[in-house]
Amino acid sequence: MIARSLFTQNFRNLYSGDIAFSDEVNVISGQNGQGKTNLLEALCLFTGVRSFRGAKNFELIAKGEKFARMELQFFADKREQNAKLLITDKKQATLNGVKQAAATGFIGRFCAVVFSPDNMSLVKGGSNERRRFLDAAISQQFPTYPRLLVEYNRILAQRNAFLKKSAGKANFDSMLDIWDENLAQTGARISCKRAEYVARLVGKTQEIFDGISSGRDSIGLRYSCSYLIPESVNDTVEALRKLLETHRASDLAQGCTNSGAHRDDLHISVNGMVARSYASQGQKRSCVLALKLAEASLLEESAGERPIAVLDDVMSELDGLRQDYLLNHMDGWQVFISCCDPHTVKGLDRGRIIEVENGKCMSKD
Ligand SMILES: Nc1ncnc2c1ncn2[C@@H]1O[C@H](COP(=O)(O)OP(=O)(O)OP(=O)(O)O)[C@@H](O)[C@H]1O
Ligand SMILES: [Mg+2]
Repeated sequence: MIARSLFTQNFRNLYSGDIAFSDEVNVISGQNGQGKTNLLEALCLFTGVRSFRGAKNFELIAKGEKFARMELQFFADKREQNAKLLITDKKQATLNGVKQAAATGFIGRFCAVVFSPDNMSLVKGGSNERRRFLDAAISQQFPTYPRLLVEYNRILAQRNAFLKKSAGKANFDSMLDIWDENLAQTGARISCKRAEYVARLVGKTQEIFDGISSGRDSIGLRYSCSYLIPESVNDTVEALRKLLETHRASDLAQGCTNSGAHRDDLHISVNGMVARSYASQGQKRSCVLALKLAEASLLEESAGERPIAVLDDVMSELDGLRQDYLLNHMDGWQVFISCCDPHTVKGLDRGRIIEVENGKCMSKD
């Protein structure tokens, strides 16, 4: 899909008006605090999900104003389309002239893969960040998956509450039997689904990572789950059932559940070493970028449309070759990339530079 142009009025510090985009690379350039991320944020609100900054509606409206209004022209599903958003204390969305019940009506119609510095927690943070990444990606492709997660977390919370309450006491086995069976059934299915997704993700991530690093580094991905029996949900259920049984005494003593899908991880390595502990800043950044773009490519395979790539503050810490890849070699992607360094902008071969100064966006081809 392609974003053609964006109109904003009273959106944060942006001047009211229209901005036209290149179908290829759009470099959003300017000094700190000028409105670059604001512009990317406005664009991404048309994906129908919350602001990637987690902003509340009133924060999106220019100070002193009562509403913000935006309009996006875009190409998707083989036709030109139009989406409108009116932000007050709520968001009112219109798609091709049809009022939507909520902004979520845009989901799946206009899609973006967003990289923001917060995403670095995917490599730098704990295993929960990586599980969340996998869960969000899988949920976009398998609508029944979120229900499985909700069910698993509900059973886990009940089991943990029960374990805490009964620490040191004996003979609660019949209650635990029921929870363990449910936990094994749902947990094993979650682990299998994640492992299956990672198996699809590996090749794409390696290919993109290879491009970003010009073949100088290699990335490894491995889904880590102590009870997984590859390609057999039933055997995995059985293995988790056994593990819960084996650990029951220690679970009771500690008042928490020590085995299950909530303990799985996605191991990321660069040149054979754990990325979190050994990779450089630029290598870590490249890992996150490759993972996010690979996720978008997989989504494209199932949805038939390639999302736009929105890369906020990605350039710092990347060397010239990596910057060149993002600026000039992401063939087939429409890219929006913010940067502060005018020197970086000079490396752009083709596309558009949009200079942002004090909220005013000026386009240069
Ligand atoms: N609701 C709002 N009303 C008016 N101004 C706002 C509002 N929200 C944010 N701003 C202003 O927008 C500016 C920040 O814009 P933005 O985050 O897009 O900067 P940036 O160009 O991305 O900078 P950096 O390079 O530091 O990331 C700040 O000056 C801030 O005061
Ligand atoms: Mg910014």
